Amino acid sequence: MQVINSVKDMQTWSAMQKTQGLSIGLVPTMGYLHAGHMTLVGEARQNCDRVIVSIFVNPIQFGVGEDYEVYPRDLERDQSLLQEAGVDVLFSPPVAEMYPPGFSAFVEIEGEITAKLCGAFRPGHFRGVTTVVSKLFNLALPDRAYFGQKDAQQLLVLEKMVRDLNFPLEIIRVPIVREADGLAMSSRNVYLKGEQREQALVLSRSLQTARAMIADGERDPEKVKENMLQIISHSPLARVEYIEIAKARDLSAM
Ligand code: PAJ
Repeated sequence: MQVINSVKDMQTWSAMQKTQGLSIGLVPTMGYLHAGHMTLVGEARQNCDRVIVSIFVNPIQFGVGEDYEVYPRDLERDQSLLQEAGVDVLFSPPVAEMYPPGFSAFVEIEGEITAKLCGAFRPGHFRGVTTVVSKLFNLALPDRAYFGQKDAQQLLVLEKMVRDLNFPLEIIRVPIVREADGLAMSSRNVYLKGEQREQALVLSRSLQTARAMIADGERDPEKVKENMLQIISHSPLARVEYIEIAKARDLSAM
């Protein structure tokens, strides 16, 4: 596995693969890899001639007071996991390589799709994501890029970006990978200690309940939300930012 740190070397490597007619799969990540990330890598490995995984903790998608400085990092461990998985290139640029002094171009998807849900609580977050992912697309030149359904809104926003800006690639959706007890895998789960880890299960439990209610024919979003809130209220450590039921295609209201 080759490790590439510079923007220029990344673009040159990818352009070379293209001239040889090889297909490229890209898996963008912020590192501290777990089985969820590795499922994306496995899908790319199966379906592309060359696989690039990027590890870049993207400062511009973190808001003021968010966890950029303390976001978990372990590049050495990540590197050996990717090596074992048969990845061709680990792209891990320093911040100054991605955002040199004077950098001022941003990609912003307007409308409800970025304004609602997480967008309402994390101003500038999706703008940071769409900007860095656009840059990664321009550097890695992928035919396919792999994203997890765990970050459902991010996935929809990126699909819209690819459509609206005519990026010549396909976005591949990968299902959520969960721990045995139901908690969705996440690099940030290391923040959860003891009782917090235990009580975090109200998230998956409330979602399972919502799914069961809808499967049983419930069509009133308010009733479903009420039940979810009820389950979450059993956890004194949980604080609800939002519960929304929206159309899966574009997040518009039901
Ligand atoms: P990160 O949180 O590292 O996630 C990288 C990719 O792995 C995303 O597509 C995410 O949806 C997917 N993923 C994470 N946990 C998963 C799980 N449990 N099951 C399935 N897929 C999972 O998302 C980001 O990084 C960043 O916003 C990024 C897209 C890299 C832009 O900086």
